[in-house]
Amino acid sequence: MTALSKDTTIAVIGAGAMGAGIAQVAATYGHPVLLFDKAPGAAEKGIVGIAAGLDKLVSRGKLDQDARDAILSRLTPVDELEALAPAKLVVEAIVENRDIKQQVFSRLESICAADCILASNTSSISITSLATALERPQNFAGLHFFNPAPIMKLVEVVSGLDTDPEVAACLHATATAWGKQAVHAKSTPGFIVNRLARPFYAEGLRLLEEGAADSATLDALMRDAGGFRMGPFELMDLIGHDVNYAVTRSVFDAYYGDGRFLPSLTQQALVEGGRLGRKSGRGFYDYGAGAERPEPATLGTGNDAPPSRIVVEGSLGVADALVERLRSNGIEVVEREGVGRIRVGDSVLTMSDGRMATERAPAEGLRNLVLFDLALDYSTCTRLGVTVADQADKDTLAPVVALLNAAGIRVSLLDDAPGLAVLRTVAMLANEAADAVLQGVCSAADADTAMRFGVNYPQGPLTWAEQIGVGFVHRILTHLQQGYGEDRYRPSRLLRRKAFSGGVFHD
Ligand code: NAI
Repeated sequence: MTALSKDTTIAVIGAGAMGAGIAQVAATYGHPVLLFDKAPGAAEKGIVGIAAGLDKLVSRGKLDQDARDAILSRLTPVDELEALAPAKLVVEAIVENRDIKQQVFSRLESICAADCILASNTSSISITSLATALERPQNFAGLHFFNPAPIMKLVEVVSGLDTDPEVAACLHATATAWGKQAVHAKSTPGFIVNRLARPFYAEGLRLLEEGAADSATLDALMRDAGGFRMGPFELMDLIGHDVNYAVTRSVFDAYYGDGRFLPSLTQQALVEGGRLGRKSGRGFYDYGAGAERPEPATLGTGNDAPPSRIVVEGSLGVADALVERLRSNGIEVVEREGVGRIRVGDSVLTMSDGRMATERAPAEGLRNLVLFDLALDYSTCTRLGVTVADQADKDTLAPVVALLNAAGIRVSLLDDAPGLAVLRTVAMLANEAADAVLQGVCSAADADTAMRFGVNYPQGPLTWAEQIGVGFVHRILTHLQQGYGEDRYRPSRLLRRKAFSGGVFHD
């Protein structure tokens, strides 16, 4: 199905943060846009806000004055719902309340033409349930933008039980024409992004609660090793703990208490204490005047002489690039057959497999065992997480730290956390994505697109799993499940299946 043509009138209801943004996107493409808000003057105010944003773009040379004027000329505030009659698509972005949304859609059905598409920007209300108030539920779908709508690329096109696939296809094509990355999702709790992103916060919170490291260190690892723009704690502070906790609660409740979505008592306490993050001046971090951001814990001075020679036994898989990096920084590498270990003096360095170092050391007959974390790119990462077995000699870490420092990699020590930080988070993100694909919520490609463009992940979780090896991800999850004795880490049946059948999610 093709996109709605530029001359098609679009209506947006609700001129708040999202509605104004969506109106701007549609008007920028070229549609005449009608903007309605029940609060008197709110639609006009929304357009004034859009104008201010466009003026900034003009002053930065990113938009020319004529284009700015043309966009604004296409935006019309209206003060009654009846004025939306000419619209062929109405996007609702009002208060997140099922009954109020249903009343608005019901009225719209009697105002707009029979073929008008009605869409909701809801983040959390079932599209299927909203449609029950409608006489033409086939013409209704979710059109879920991300904040700020003019900047964030992703749009989830959400189909309820009754949504006509042609309507979903038209919305997908239209959002694509508007310059967005559109994905299809089945109406299920959290749709794609708000469900698949839960482990990013949950694993960080669990690591913090278990004393693996402090928030500044965990954030630094997710950024400097994982390649995420922000770590989980700074991101939760930005989103607001009230909002982030409410989303986790609603997804947890909607999935009948599935441990995969278990909310955190640490975050609950922040909400109870009014430490909502940046907006209240304090969350995990203090945003008050003069407050200093805590530094991540970093081992070593960077000045210790590195070992001149290491022995690499077998392939380290995804971490082979680390060996190359060490070699190119002047470390002599002696290669031997083996199962993927680096010997540095008496210390043995290898990648985590989801078990604690303390558990793995006796199992593999290695005393001075150091495990390292996943990096998005071992050839460029600036920090790496490590952990050391309880049985290890006191000086086990020193040569490992000097070695990594010599290649420009800072080292952060985690208490013996199984799967460390980046590896376990990515494994859980991929697992959730695999489950969503298994359940027909979205395709593998759309799961990846959603996370790259909805929350700016550096890599789609399923592509990431393919890169590090789906069999390896499955092993990590299985070890986490055994180690914790918790259902939370159970591998998705699809991930398990792919682990045994070539490890490729994408056709
Ligand atoms: P907001 O509070 O900034 O704006 C809502 C606007 O809707 C207000 O101007 C209000 O006067 C108006 N309104 C309320 N009831 C109305 C009615 N019956 N008829 C007409 N106008 C009415 O809210 P925001 O943040 O823009 O959210 C709107 C919707 O978008 C909600 O469903 C929310 O869940 C969803 N959403 C919000 C995101 C966000 O980050 N803020 C992201 C994605 C979706």
